[in-house]
Amino acid sequence: MEYYEVIKKRKSVRKYKSDRIPDDVLNRILDAGRLAPSAKNYQPWHFIVIREPEMKQKVAEACVNQHFIAEADVIICGCALEKIAWDRMGNYMASWPHDLSIALDHIILAAANEGLGTCWIGKFDEKMVKDLLQIPEEVRVVALTPVGYPAEVPKERRRLELKEIVSYEKFETSRNIQIREKPSETKRQGDTVKG
Ligand SMILES: Cc1cc2nc3c(=O)[nH]c(=O)nc-3n(C[C@H](O)[C@H](O)[C@H](O)COP(=O)(O)O)c2cc1C
Repeated sequence: MEYYEVIKKRKSVRKYKSDRIPDDVLNRILDAGRLAPSAKNYQPWHFIVIREPEMKQKVAEACVNQHFIAEADVIICGCALEKIAWDRMGNYMASWPHDLSIALDHIILAAANEGLGTCWIGKFDEKMVKDLLQIPEEVRVVALTPVGYPAEVPKERRRLELKEIVSYEKFETSRNIQIREKPSETKRQGDTVKG
C-alpha cells in the first residue's frame, strides 16, 4: 500500500474476527518494530505476543475490562527495559516512553499495511499486566495493542486542521492552551471507551 494511504487507513479497531494471522505476516509487523529508531540506538524494547485465549481474556480484564481486546488473534504488549534506555535524554527526561511509542507505532502502521486492525491501549493496570505476563519489576509496560482482522469499519475521528497545529519560525496558535478543547465530534454509538 502507498505510505500515505496506510496513514489514512489506520484507525482504532474495536471489533475483531478470530481469523489467525499467518506467521510471516506477524513476523513482518514485529520486524517493523525492531527497525524503529531509539535514543542512542539502545533498543530498550521487548514485545510479548499473547495468543492463548484464556490469557487474552485476563489481559483484557487488566486493561480495565476492555473485552474487545481479547477478540483479536493476538495482543502485543510493548515493554520498556527501563534500565537499558537512556535515562536522562537531553538532561531532562527518560527515553523509554518515546522509544517504545515509536516502535509500537511502527508495528501499528505495518499492521494497517497488512490489512490488520489495531488499537493503542494505554488504559491498563500495570501491576496486573506485569503479574499475568511475568514481567520483571524493572521492566515497564508502555502500551498494548490487539492485532487482528477487523470486523468493523471504524468511523473516522476528527483531526484538527494543519493551520491549527502548525506555525512557522515561532510558536503561534489560535488554540486556548489553558484548557483542553472538547472534540466537536459526537460519540460513536456503543462506544464505551474513553481512551
Ligand atoms: C496514548 C493513547 C492511549 C489510548 N488508550 C486507549 C485505550 O485504552 N482504549 C481504547 O479503546 N483506545 C485507546 N486509544 C485510542 C484513541 O482513542 C484513538 O487513537 C483516538 O480516539 C483517535 O481515533 P483513531 O485511532 O481511530 O484515529 C489510545 C490512544 C493513544 C494514543
